[in-house]
Amino acid sequence: MALPVVDTEYLKEVDKARRDLRALIASRNCAPIMLRLAWHDAGTYDVNTKTGGPNGSIRSEEEYNHGSNNGLKKAIDWCEEVKSRHPKITYADLYQLAGVVAVEVTGGPTIDFVPGRRDSIVSPKEGRLPDAKQGAPHLRDIFYRMGLSDKDIVALSGGHTLGRAHAERSGFDGPWTKEPLKFDNSYFVVLLNGESEGLLQLPTDKALLDDPEFRPYVELYAKDEDAFFRDYAESHKKLSELGFTPR
Ligand code: HEM
Repeated sequence: MALPVVDTEYLKEVDKARRDLRALIASRNCAPIMLRLAWHDAGTYDVNTKTGGPNGSIRSEEEYNHGSNNGLKKAIDWCEEVKSRHPKITYADLYQLAGVVAVEVTGGPTIDFVPGRRDSIVSPKEGRLPDAKQGAPHLRDIFYRMGLSDKDIVALSGGHTLGRAHAERSGFDGPWTKEPLKFDNSYFVVLLNGESEGLLQLPTDKALLDDPEFRPYVELYAKDEDAFFRDYAESHKKLSELGFTPR
């Protein structure tokens, strides 16, 4: 599909969509699932074949029916309400904007958002997103395929400061932190403190503790929230721009 023309009018629509998303996310308390939608659209990127990535393809039935996307149809439908009011904006931009706004309105860092992503309806085969039952080598396989680094893996895992797992979606259950609607560094604090009643730690979360490259970042982010916010904002921007060269 064609590259959107990012002129003054497009930028104005982006600002309006940003306001709509803020209101929608606040009224439905849906920041976590909006962030997950942005991540699952982007996280299919393959740096070698330059396929997948933040291109809006997750809106296709084939892709949102992938097991790893269970539950995301709701977020896609909510974004459609905003799309219908701002039809110029591509789905690819809209989903990434929703992710950025979700982090912002829950108290997280400001993430630089550059519009201009192209939409695609070509969905990658199932299996490009991480499997929560695996460990560090798998995390590296998946994130290196996107062109991301060890630091990105740990910083982005901090996205689990928001939201919870739902037994009927993933088979896992519960939130990672005591305040799942607040974006802070508590994911890392809780992770370092070990298992805690009522809180979830996925095998892929625990893998961050056992790996000698990952662990120093966990320790840094647990004690220094500013460092986490700075690195998170940088890694999130990278994730949101995989395969996209802003002009
Ligand atoms: C939820 C796995 C990375 C953001 C989940 C769930 C699983 C999961 C199993 C529960 C889904 C459900 O039952 O509703 C993983 C794995 C990752 C990963 C294996 C590999 C590192 C990320 C990243 C982000 C993220 C990079 C964002 C930067 C979220 C959010 C939720 C979530 C916000 C909560 C959604 C809700 O409350 O509905 N993730 N995730 N995850 N994930 Fe991840």
